[in-house]
Amino acid sequence: MASTLTTKLSYFLLMFLLMMTWSFQAMSRKLDEETIVQKHKLWQTQHGRAYVNEAEEEKRFKIFKDNLEYIEHFNSLGNQTYELGLNQFSDLTNEEFVALYTGYKEPPFTGSSEKEIGFLYENLTEVPSSMDWIGAGAVTSIKDQGICGSCWAFSTVAAVEGINQITTGNLISLSEQQLVDCVHSNKGCRGGWMDNAFHYIIQNSGITTEENYPYKGKDKKCHFKKGAMSTVTIHGYADVPANNEKALLKAVSKQPVSVALDSSGFQLYSKGIFSGKCRTRLNHAVTIVGYGTSEYGTKYWLAKNSWGKDWGEKGYIRIKREVDAPEGLCGIAKKASYPIA
Ligand SMILES: *[C@@H]1O[C@H](CO)[C@@H](O)[C@H](O)[C@H]1NC(C)=O
Ligand SMILES: *[C@@H]1O[C@H](CO)[C@@H](O)[C@H](O)[C@H]1NC(C)=O
Repeated sequence: MASTLTTKLSYFLLMFLLMMTWSFQAMSRKLDEETIVQKHKLWQTQHGRAYVNEAEEEKRFKIFKDNLEYIEHFNSLGNQTYELGLNQFSDLTNEEFVALYTGYKEPPFTGSSEKEIGFLYENLTEVPSSMDWIGAGAVTSIKDQGICGSCWAFSTVAAVEGINQITTGNLISLSEQQLVDCVHSNKGCRGGWMDNAFHYIIQNSGITTEENYPYKGKDKKCHFKKGAMSTVTIHGYADVPANNEKALLKAVSKQPVSVALDSSGFQLYSKGIFSGKCRTRLNHAVTIVGYGTSEYGTKYWLAKNSWGKDWGEKGYIRIKREVDAPEGLCGIAKKASYPIA
């Protein structure tokens, strides 16, 4: 009898505890929703984002929430080589992000006279275990392509700025807008590729400075007078042998190198060595400005991006190097090329 009473009592106690837990969970779920609203508001202030109406606000909030939940889920998995975080792309779907902020186009033609040069660095035998062209003073500060598919112009310019500094000792910031406006074989803000831009620089006997022909982030008419005030020139360019990370390593040990890759997975990248899933459908261009090995032994490429200083590691991303596929992670070794001074 006494034991039945005890059983009943413990049953009620258990039910009571369960109900407490449920109501607490319901409350914390609600709080979470509120926290996300707060986070979204704060994020909007930080990024100067205003929405045209309530429907848009609601739509963007949903996307922001999905992204935030994805970030927290991913980071909680632990034991990753990289982390995700909020940034200026957090209220966009991945499709919107790729459509708005990338801009690499697959080459419309292959081969041209300058490229018959062959691979300059094929006979290089000694390659240092790490390289940092930023520390060497061959990289200008991070730039921002804005809502314009001009990544190809930024990738080209960073490679030319690099080889110019290496050969002359002068680090001069050069004009992406000149390339956007004047490389008619490319499509300006609708995309392009770097070899066409190198070709233009040779034909034009050079490229002018950022200061002389500043970036606008939209398609403009080519300003021939400014474009003719060349400050830096190159005499050739060449492709790194495709699908060969070892060849890419040799080239980067000698100068910053333009590469195309699939950047779909970069939207919420915050820090560390990106090793996530990606395809190899090239849609973005960056410039590799170094390589190394992390303290945990992960090999990486160091790439300069053109999404501003607030994205990634102060505007840079480290990407896993020497992966199991010949084309490299995200196709980074498929279409690399470099200017020749
Ligand atoms: C972390 O990842 C490394 C490399 O992928 C693996 O060898 C190790 O077992 C993982 N550790 C844990 C705790 O999952
Ligand atoms: C590399 O070495 C081979 C054999 O000596 C030579 O034929 C080739 O021209 C060299 N390549 C370069 C780029 O110097």
